[in-house]
Amino acid sequence: MIENDNTIILIGFMGSGKTTIGNYFAQKQDLTFVDLDQYIERQESKTIPNIFNEYGEQYFRQLESKYLQECISKYEVIATGGGIVESEDAFKQLKKQKYVIWLDGNIKTLYDRVINDPHRPNAQNKTLEQLNNLYSSRYLRYNEIAFTKLQSDLLTTSEIYNELLNLIKATDQY
Ligand code: S3P
Repeated sequence: MIENDNTIILIGFMGSGKTTIGNYFAQKQDLTFVDLDQYIERQESKTIPNIFNEYGEQYFRQLESKYLQECISKYEVIATGGGIVESEDAFKQLKKQKYVIWLDGNIKTLYDRVINDPHRPNAQNKTLEQLNNLYSSRYLRYNEIAFTKLQSDLLTTSEIYNELLNLIKATDQY
C-alpha cells in the first residue's frame, strides 16, 4: 500500500500505452487503478467526444483537472489523458507528485495507433505533421514533470512493468 502523494501517475501522448500499462501494473501489484478519461465519462455521464463537441476542449481541460485531484486522493495508479499537460492547474498538481511516469514512443507509431480513432477528438482528421506538432508542443511539459521516461513502443507490457517496478523500488519511498 502506498501513500496518496506516492500515487503512480502515467503521462504521455495518445497511444503511448498509459491505460494498458497502468492497468497491468496495478493488477500485478494489487493496487487500485483508474483511467482518468473513463472516470470523467462516468462522472459526467458523457463520452469524451460528446464533451468536446458540446462544450469544447477548454471545458474538458477543466474537468480533467478537477477529476485528477479527486483521483489522486482515491486511487494508487492513474492513467491520464495525453493532453493533461495542457491545463496549468493539472500541470501544477502533477508537478507536486513524486511518481509521474512518462510513456513515450516514436510519433509515427503513436500516429498509426490513434489516427482517426472516433473516441479521440484530437486525433481526428490530422496529418502526421499536425499530430507531430501537437506532440512537440507537449514534449517539454511532459519532460518537466516526469520522474522518469520509458520508451513504451520498444518494449512489451511485462518489460515496461519490470522497468517501472525496478525504478520505483530503487527510490526510498516505496
Ligand atoms: C487527448 C487525449 C485523450 C483524451 C482526449 C484528449 C489529447 O487521452 O484525454 O481525447 O488531447 O491528447 P489518451 O491519451 O488516453 O488518448
